[in-house]
Amino acid sequence: MKKYLVVGDPIKHSFSPTLHNYWFKKNNISAIYEKRKISEKDIKDTVTQIRNNQINGINITVPFKKVVAKYVDELSSLSQQTQSVNTVYKKENKIIGDNTDIDGFKLSLSHIKYNISDKKIFVLGAGGVVPSIILSLKKMGASKIFISNRTKQKAEDLKKLYPDIEIIEWGEFKNFDMIINATSLGLNAKDKFEIDFSKLGSNKLYYDIIYNPPKTNFLLNGEKQKNKIENGKMMFVFQAQLAFKIWHGITPKIDNEVLKLLNHD
Ligand code: ATR
Repeated sequence: MKKYLVVGDPIKHSFSPTLHNYWFKKNNISAIYEKRKISEKDIKDTVTQIRNNQINGINITVPFKKVVAKYVDELSSLSQQTQSVNTVYKKENKIIGDNTDIDGFKLSLSHIKYNISDKKIFVLGAGGVVPSIILSLKKMGASKIFISNRTKQKAEDLKKLYPDIEIIEWGEFKNFDMIINATSLGLNAKDKFEIDFSKLGSNKLYYDIIYNPPKTNFLLNGEKQKNKIENGKMMFVFQAQLAFKIWHGITPKIDNEVLKLLNHD
């Protein structure tokens, strides 16, 4: 039986096994998908297990999307451009690192029919998923990308990869069409932003990468100020669908049953 894994830390709350195992059943694939909490020193061994055919593929989540690039033989063009890997597999005896977050994010916006072209985007955070968000926004034709992170150095590191982004001091804002919470603030329902949301206007799109809880304080505040809101659930589902396609050559269906599996409210 084929074996797949999602690795990261924390990993307890990952819905990837639920989703992939459901799709295995639906598509009559004899395989199992599990989650494994690892530390950085385990990454090399995990990749070796793919080399030795003990594991057929892995998804990588926080905080290892960057470091895993060191241990694969080849990076896809998207992984190379973002220095970020979320999907690993073996092809013709080579271990390949790929990235489905970029297109997962893009598909989540097509899903709600939001057109990024010529829009100004304000990104909060500079963690592991942000290089993928930025590349995706650039590919979709955003006219301006602002980045603001509590630790400014991390935003400056991102500017080395994407020189045309503009760094904004944490707590300050520029006019935007869409704001994205890409920080981990909100994972705990009690987490609050020290932001006066009433000063940020209305009729914008508030997007949170977090999907559990489904409505973070960031989204609740956005909604209160009469903005459209979207959480990270569809991005998560689409990145999984794209990884499934890479591994099994099949695009699994995203139907209501799939979406219900991920309901936790
Ligand atoms: P990593 O930083 O290891 O890649 P991540 O979960 O991808 O982990 O990123 C966490 C993001 O949430 C970072 O942008 C982090 O800001 P710092 O770079 O300053 O740490 C942000 N973050 C986490 N807790 C925060 C808080 N209480 N206030 C503001 N930003 C926070």
